[in-house]
Amino acid sequence: MQAQLRIRRYNPEKDQAGYWGEYTLNDVNPNDSVLDLLHRVKWEIDGTLALRRSCAHGVCGSDAFRINGANMLACKTLVNRLGDGDMIKVQVEPILGLKVLKDLIVDMEPFMDHYKSVMPYFINDDPPPENGRERLQSIEDRARFDDTTKCILCAACTSSCPSFWANDKYVGPAAIVNAHRFIFDSRDKAPEKRLAVVGDTFGVWRCRTNFNCTNACPREIEITKAIAEVKNVLYTGEI
Ligand code: SF4
Ligand code: F3S
Ligand code: FES
Repeated sequence: MQAQLRIRRYNPEKDQAGYWGEYTLNDVNPNDSVLDLLHRVKWEIDGTLALRRSCAHGVCGSDAFRINGANMLACKTLVNRLGDGDMIKVQVEPILGLKVLKDLIVDMEPFMDHYKSVMPYFINDDPPPENGRERLQSIEDRARFDDTTKCILCAACTSSCPSFWANDKYVGPAAIVNAHRFIFDSRDKAPEKRLAVVGDTFGVWRCRTNFNCTNACPREIEITKAIAEVKNVLYTGEI
């Protein structure tokens, strides 16, 4: 099959504004990923195309792009998911809400700053058990935050959120997912610190239950549900 790609291009060293680059690839396999197509453009047609990617297997979270209008990981999106027939049209743009540095590469620093603001690490100054065992936890307690451990920080959620587009001070769904992961961990001793961040002016109340984030997450995390659970803790005072 043939693929016709439109790729958003922008080189700040020579372009006044972004533009669409158009590329045609032949002998495309329906099981090729969009990342395979971007690699072919870069390696066979225009070596200046700039994009982030690393693992190519949906693990590192570095290749979230807006593909045919929806946020997806290029490496996890197969051509046959976008259509069939002898010719397929594929449009690839940078994710929205973050400054474009070059072509498909955005500045992830503001996103990572929001992530860091929720203290996404285990806090417990109590001495560990003397018998050398881990801090034990029941299966039920572990299940409370199992879903939110799966985040790979791809930013597909936050950059699909209209509340974040409207105001990038909003901490965003990815940061709330990572706050949830520790707030609901019975071994952690600092939920109130994280709740102070996500309960603030630019925290969870900016979420309008739009669900774009949940639809975009390549790890299928129930993000809107996690946000609702954090809102409920703030409302009731009970974890
Ligand atoms: Fe990506 Fe999902 Fe994590 Fe958001 S919650 S950063 S979409 S893996
Ligand atoms: Fe945004 Fe997700 Fe809420 S898209 S409005 S954070 S449900
Ligand atoms: Fe690592 Fe796609 S390249 S998630």
